[in-house]
Amino acid sequence: MQDKFDLLKTVEQGGCSAKLPQQLLDNILYDMDFSYNENLLVKADKRDDAAVWKINQDTAIIYTVDFFPPICSDPYIFGQIAATNSLSDIYAMGGEVLTALNLVMFPSKSIDISVLKNILKGGADKVKEAGGIIAGGHTIDDYPPKYGLSVIGKVHPEKVITNDKAKNRDILILTKALGTGVIIAGKRMGESKEEDYISALDNMMLLNNFVSSIMQKNNIICATDITGFSLIGHTFEIAKASNVICEIDSKKVPILQGAYNLVHIGCIPGAAFRNLKYVEEKVFFKEGLDYNLKMLLFDAQTSGGILISCVEKKVDSLVRELIKKGYKDTSIIGKVLKRKKKSDPYIIIN
Ligand code: CO
Ligand code: CO
Ligand code: CO
Repeated sequence: MQDKFDLLKTVEQGGCSAKLPQQLLDNILYDMDFSYNENLLVKADKRDDAAVWKINQDTAIIYTVDFFPPICSDPYIFGQIAATNSLSDIYAMGGEVLTALNLVMFPSKSIDISVLKNILKGGADKVKEAGGIIAGGHTIDDYPPKYGLSVIGKVHPEKVITNDKAKNRDILILTKALGTGVIIAGKRMGESKEEDYISALDNMMLLNNFVSSIMQKNNIICATDITGFSLIGHTFEIAKASNVICEIDSKKVPILQGAYNLVHIGCIPGAAFRNLKYVEEKVFFKEGLDYNLKMLLFDAQTSGGILISCVEKKVDSLVRELIKKGYKDTSIIGKVLKRKKKSDPYIIIN
């Protein structure tokens, strides 16, 4: 009976779409004094996926935290997705996972505690699959439930993959299909097909661990993972930090089965409009761009793929290896151009 409890019923906005809007964060963080230390290799104001602290010549630790309200109905699957998402920021920096702590908010009086047990089991199984160990955690009685991890990983200090090193003529590669936000919203409205919902769950449960090792093997230096701020929101962070233009070919972006039709019937989560509004002025949209496709590019992703900026000559081997390792939707979605003047956009969408 407990297994029938539908976590999705506890929230209006789940997963990464429950993040605070970027604009609000800008408004309060712009004059924050982040002090400097030479061992802090990636600082908060870089808007990167995780912080990186150099311990010695050979080792830097990567540390990150992520948690959110339910993104799906089943507790065990929710635990797996939340953990996969938290671990992803280690992989986006090119690291390996070492250990993690559970972050739990759960209403013990209104939901049976066995639901929490299944959430934690899902999280633990993913951390184990990632080769890490759960070392503890913290719980608060709160509604709706929220779950995630604080994770520690490691990387060689000279092999940190950041969001500020995209170069003119690089090729942009995306490792997972988009549309998880749309499909979950459709599920809530009873409009998503069961098979499409299941493939969206599989997409979110897929660890980005091998993307990290394949990037390291191919000497990739610039990447980020795609989560609540959408493909274009996170691409903007790369473009801005690297001072380049990212040109996206909308027709080449992989989209989950069923997502396009849901957008077509008007199933567009509010987060997509917020994401669009935040970067709109920095983006050049090709005339006649398909509206449904455009909104999918701004759909908030939960536990999304990794966007990689890759030198041209490595692209073929990188894509081949990623597909072989199980990232079947991996696609070349655009390229990097020189940004010549201040009035140039950061993103061009064709
Ligand atoms: Co991230
Ligand atoms: Co994050
Ligand atoms: Co990064």
